[in-house]
Amino acid sequence: MALTVDQLVVEFPAGQAGKRRVLDIPAATFEDGSRLCLVGGSGSGKTTFLHVLAGIIRPTSGQVRHGDVDLFALSESARDRFRARHIGYVFQTFNLLQSLTALENIRIVQTLAQVRGKEAAEAAGRMLARLGLSERARALPRSLSVGEQQRVALARALINRPKVVLADEPTANLDSRLRDEALELLMAVTREVGSTLLLVTHDREVMQRFEVQKDLAELGR
Ligand SMILES: Nc1ncnc2c1ncn2[C@@H]1O[C@H](COP(=O)(O)OP(=O)(O)OP(=O)(O)O)[C@@H](O)[C@H]1O
Ligand SMILES: [Mg+2]
Repeated sequence: MALTVDQLVVEFPAGQAGKRRVLDIPAATFEDGSRLCLVGGSGSGKTTFLHVLAGIIRPTSGQVRHGDVDLFALSESARDRFRARHIGYVFQTFNLLQSLTALENIRIVQTLAQVRGKEAAEAAGRMLARLGLSERARALPRSLSVGEQQRVALARALINRPKVVLADEPTANLDSRLRDEALELLMAVTREVGSTLLLVTHDREVMQRFEVQKDLAELGR
């Protein structure tokens, strides 16, 4: 199920009844299992683009298709279910639920995707261990360091082994060792699953791990 966008336009309100066009992508296709490193200046629309691909914000016009599913033709609740089952998203600002522990933040997306039972609990524990977070499993997000929060956000995005992974600066707050470990995990899981990976970064070391790097402004050209 290739991920495709068609005639995608996003405009935001700006000033008095004005609007600003942030995205304009005539067409782009991301084949199954492909990996793309997306770059571009601050404010160029990278986060907006990932949000649209995940169905988190609705474009002003145009379409996003995951395989034969037209994302914005779905009802809001169907779109939420689709995202829970098929898309792993690492938010630039983490978006962890503040009242839940690190472990619970991961368990909840398993519940949303209807993955339950002892095996699911063990998988969540293993994922935290792979990111060096076992000892922090019962900590609330506000008591985690920024890098720890980022790793919980990554664990949450990968736990359901989704077919599409959208990662917005997923290593921006990690030191070089943790960055390498996090990237390795990201690469390993997406390789095992055959997931499509779109990753946004400003970090040259991260860019170098990708065969394909594209500036958002050149997408679809
Ligand atoms: N909800 C919104 N309302 C109005 N303008 C918005 C909204 N969200 C984003 N923008 C604007 O759209 C532009 C693109 O924002 P976006 O967050 O996608 O950039 P980015 O490429 O991810 O930047 P960065 O590298 O700093 O994360 C910015 O100029 C931003 O101010
Ligand atoms: Mg951004």
